[in-house]
Amino acid sequence: MKVFLTRRIPPEGMKILSAAGVCEVSLWDSDEPVQRADLLKGVQGAHGLLCLLSDKIDAEVLDAAGPNLKVISTLSVGYDHLALDEIKKRGIRVGYTPDVLTDATAELTVALLLATARRLPEGVEEVKNGGWSSWKPLWLCGYGLSGSTVGVIGLGRIGMAIARRLMPFGVKRLLYSGRTAKAHAAEVNGEFVPLDTLVSESDFIVVSCSLTPETQGMCDKAFFSKMKNTAVFVNSSRGTVVNQEDLYEALSSGQIAAAGLDVTTPEPLPTNHPLLTLKNCVVLPHIGSATYSTRGIMGALSAQNLLGGLQGTDMPSELTF
Ligand code: NDP
Ligand code: DGY
Repeated sequence: MKVFLTRRIPPEGMKILSAAGVCEVSLWDSDEPVQRADLLKGVQGAHGLLCLLSDKIDAEVLDAAGPNLKVISTLSVGYDHLALDEIKKRGIRVGYTPDVLTDATAELTVALLLATARRLPEGVEEVKNGGWSSWKPLWLCGYGLSGSTVGVIGLGRIGMAIARRLMPFGVKRLLYSGRTAKAHAAEVNGEFVPLDTLVSESDFIVVSCSLTPETQGMCDKAFFSKMKNTAVFVNSSRGTVVNQEDLYEALSSGQIAAAGLDVTTPEPLPTNHPLLTLKNCVVLPHIGSATYSTRGIMGALSAQNLLGGLQGTDMPSELTF
């Protein structure tokens, strides 16, 4: 059986594929994304496809692959890059990587929240550029979590892991919103509230929902206009949940205090993007799950999912859709 990998993957995954001896691996042998034309060519006749979140897998790719394709394994928990309706029509199974990256992503989100709220990148810059003249009472002051209200949009696996990590900082109220109330919210005394309530009452808003037609563009002008002027906004879900023009306006006008983004539109964010001119906006290059150990485990899991789909056996993490 033939499989196409759209990128070099962690060695843990490659070892599993080689050891299984059930497939002939063809690989886009680079750390950079495969060009569309090379993807369409590489996938031809493949029985399995291992892809990344940056590869758009739509009808064109599925048609190029042809009828052999039995399984798509994505090296990510997010699957908004996969055209699930087209995939389902063709009876193709999908593997993904939930749970194994939850801790790493929650940890990074908390780091981003603290870096943004306590202005760490600005402080580091001031030390280097000579702006640090003396200890000054109000210089580089930010916002602390103690006694605050935190709002988590999407209290799923990662949202919950973020909430668990934030509570010991002395958070007073933990609000969350989503489609349904969650039994696990009791562990963090989470209050299920309408989105508007969360937005207007929170001192920190953390977006950790999946990208869906409903959440696309959810954080827009109306959303930011309801936030407190002292509130901090953090997004580690997907860039298109946010309207970036509206976010720029909210940050530059003082409508909100600061924003920390691990995800943007597009990725990479062009170096001349207006958001990068703002001191109160901290942008990271989508590194939520980027620990060596997590990426190794994601590589192994995506290989095992691929093999399960090829052999018609259980996948360790199969997406039901
Ligand atoms: P889960 O499926 O466990 O959680 C997703 C959550 O999104 C659910 O709680 C769901 O709530 C919520 N949600 C869905 N629709 C809405 C809505 N309309 N409003 C509010 N919430 C909604 O997924 P994970 O926690 O594992 O991952 C979440 C996302 O994080 C991924 O889809 C991915 O995009 C992103 N991610 C980013 C990473 C990074 O590097 N920055 C790393 C890993 C993931 P409900 O159940 O009520 O529908
Ligand atoms: C995912 O898995 O969806 C992340 O965005 C990258 O780990």
